[in-house]
Amino acid sequence: MSDPRRVVVAANWKMHKLRADALEYIHDLSTWIDDTMSDGEPGLEVVVAPPFTTLELAVEAKAPFSIFAQNMHQADQGAYTGEVSAPMLKDMSIEGVLLGHSERRQYFGETDEALAEKVHSAIGFGLAPMLCVGETNDQRKAGKAEEVVRGQLETALAEYPAEALPLLYVAYEPVWAIGTGETATPDIAQQMHAEIRLILAEMFGGDEAGRISVLYGGSVKPDNALELLSCPDIDGALVGGAALEVDSFSRIIEAGREVAKLRHGVTA
Ligand code: PGA
Repeated sequence: MSDPRRVVVAANWKMHKLRADALEYIHDLSTWIDDTMSDGEPGLEVVVAPPFTTLELAVEAKAPFSIFAQNMHQADQGAYTGEVSAPMLKDMSIEGVLLGHSERRQYFGETDEALAEKVHSAIGFGLAPMLCVGETNDQRKAGKAEEVVRGQLETALAEYPAEALPLLYVAYEPVWAIGTGETATPDIAQQMHAEIRLILAEMFGGDEAGRISVLYGGSVKPDNALELLSCPDIDGALVGGAALEVDSFSRIIEAGREVAKLRHGVTA
């Protein structure tokens, strides 16, 4: 039996926060983490993904959480006005990058094929890719949710090298639950997470798949986090709206912490 999976609680700031607000948030969250988890927390990881304009100050703050970017281009460099690349992020000491968020797919035409290239570029520079997948409302109503998610995983992770699997995170974010206040019930989420685990096992083998943290995202809030995170195949949360304030994000981290303690057999 492999080790229990890490629980990951991630904040996606999306296009929010000017520098002063970002600095205050990072300071307050760092203080809360230092006070609450003075001995570190086995099996729990906190991630914050600010927009590009506040990435550098987040890194320089040397905060007790991981800093991820929200997107990157697949090329190392070139004539791609407005884009940034994996080596540029690495150069700033960024640890990982969200890839394939549904807002990128929906508003910026991001395709699974481009994502396969982005995933390869990220791992080539040692960045951890957090690959987001999820179906729309229409796809779910048409009974195609699993097929859609399978297609997204199989294309974006095609030829993903086994030795880079420790870098990989997956986030299941049903598009109908993002920013809508409508959360997948723990049953619906668990069912899809179990399916994702199965697909990953087909692709990489059961042991390897058993080590990949699969996060849930879509209207996670302090009052539903514990129930969602307690599902056996849900290994954390990717949080948008409720992560914009330290007060509510820290309550979601608290839920992750409880689950991590149970999984890793730590007694309070
Ligand atoms: P939400 O966003 O928590 O505001 O629904 C989640 C996400 O888009 O990652």
